[in-house]
Amino acid sequence: MIERPRLPEPDGRGLADSTLAVHAGEDRLKSGNAVTDAIFCAATYTFPDTQSAVDYVAQKLPREEYGRYGNPSERVTERKLAALEGGQSAIVYSTGMAAICSLLMAVLKAGDEVVLFDECYHRTRELCNKHFGKFGVVTHQAPACDYDRMEAAINENTRLLISESPTNPHLSVVDLERFAALGKKHRVDTMIDATLATPYNVKPLAYGVDYVVHSCTKYLSGHNDLLAGAIIASEEKLEPVRRLRGATGMCIGPQENYLLLRGVKTLELRMRRHNENGQAVAEFLQGHRRIEKVYYPGLASHRDHEVARRTMRGYGGLITFLIKDADWRQTADVVDAVRIPRIGPSLGGAESLIEQPMVMSYHDFSKEQLEAVGIRENMIRLSCGLENPEDLIADLEQALDR
Ligand SMILES: Cc1ncc(COP(=O)(O)O)c(C=O)c1O
Repeated sequence: MIERPRLPEPDGRGLADSTLAVHAGEDRLKSGNAVTDAIFCAATYTFPDTQSAVDYVAQKLPREEYGRYGNPSERVTERKLAALEGGQSAIVYSTGMAAICSLLMAVLKAGDEVVLFDECYHRTRELCNKHFGKFGVVTHQAPACDYDRMEAAINENTRLLISESPTNPHLSVVDLERFAALGKKHRVDTMIDATLATPYNVKPLAYGVDYVVHSCTKYLSGHNDLLAGAIIASEEKLEPVRRLRGATGMCIGPQENYLLLRGVKTLELRMRRHNENGQAVAEFLQGHRRIEKVYYPGLASHRDHEVARRTMRGYGGLITFLIKDADWRQTADVVDAVRIPRIGPSLGGAESLIEQPMVMSYHDFSKEQLEAVGIRENMIRLSCGLENPEDLIADLEQALDR
C-alpha cells in the first residue's frame, strides 16, 4: 500500500487560497503517478471478495461502491471546495439548482417555513414558492437586506433563512454577520448562495452561516463549459443531505467533475482579473453621460458599499446598469453594438457575456411582476470575463457613443 501524504493539515488550514486551490483535497501520489487526478468513468466499483463488501458496508473501508453515491475524483473536488470555504465538508452536484433543491428537500418537510430575501436567484424563489409550496412548505419574502422584515417573518415553524450575496442582478450585499446572528437568535439555519462572490471574495461560514451553496457553473469552474453545483457546511449538517443525493441521483458526471477540479485550480488568478475588470468597467460606466445608474458593490455610490468593503476581498465581474431615457429597444441597440461580450445568460466565465434581464431571464414576467422585482426595460447585465479591461471599456464606449 503506497502511503499517500496530503497537505500538512488535511484541510490545509493556514495555507493561502491559491495554495489550497491548487493542492487541497488531493493525494500527493495519484493513480499512475500522474500529477493530475484521474477521470473515473465507472458506473460501479468491484470488490475482490465478499468480506471486502461486508467490511465496506460496515464502513470499515474508505472506497466507492456505485457512481450515484460517489466517485474518487468527485471526493477530491469536494475536499478542495470545503478547504477553500473553510468548511468541514462539501457535496458536489450536477447543477447549482440541483444543489439548492437537494438542500431544501433534505431540511424541509410539510408545514415548515422559509424566509428569503426577495433578490434571491429567481429559480430559487420559484423552487420555494411554487414547487415546495405544493408539498406544504410555506415561503415568506422580505426585501433584500431588510433584516427587521426578515425577523418579523420568522415564527416557530421557520426552518431556513435564505439569501444570495451579492444578489443578481442588483448586486445587493448581505451583512453576513447580521444574517447569521438572526438565524442563531431564532435557532433557524441560514443558507447563502455565494455564487457571485466565490470563496476568493467572501467566506460566509466564517460569519456563522450554516450552508453555503454555489452554482459551480459560474466562477468556480470559470470557462462557460460545464454545469455543476455544490453545498459546503459542517459534516453533521451535510450528512442527511449527502444521503439524499444518493437517493435522488443529482450527481455530477466524471468529465464535468474533472473540468471543475481543473477550473478551481486557477480560481485566485481568475477572480483577481474578474475583480479588476468589474471595478474598472463599473467606474467607467458610472462616469458616462448615457448611464442612469450602475449597480456594483465596489462603487461608493452602491447602497451596500460599506458592508461589501467590510466583508469582501473584491466585488467580482458582474455589473448591472441602466441606460438613461431608453426604452427596451434602445437598450437592446447598446447590447447589439458591443463587439467583445457575447449576448447570453450566465456569468463567471472567461468570455464576457451581456444581456437584458427583461429579455432573457425574466421574459415571462408581466409588467407588474417586473416592477415588483426591480427589473427595468433599460437594464443591462454585463459579466466581465478575463479580457483586457481597456479593451472592454473601449468596446462599451463605442457601443454607448453610437
Ligand atoms: C446565483 C445563482 N445561483 C444558482 C444558479 C443556478 O445554477 P445552475 O445554472 O448551475 O443550476 C444560478 C444560475 O444562473 C445563479 O446565478
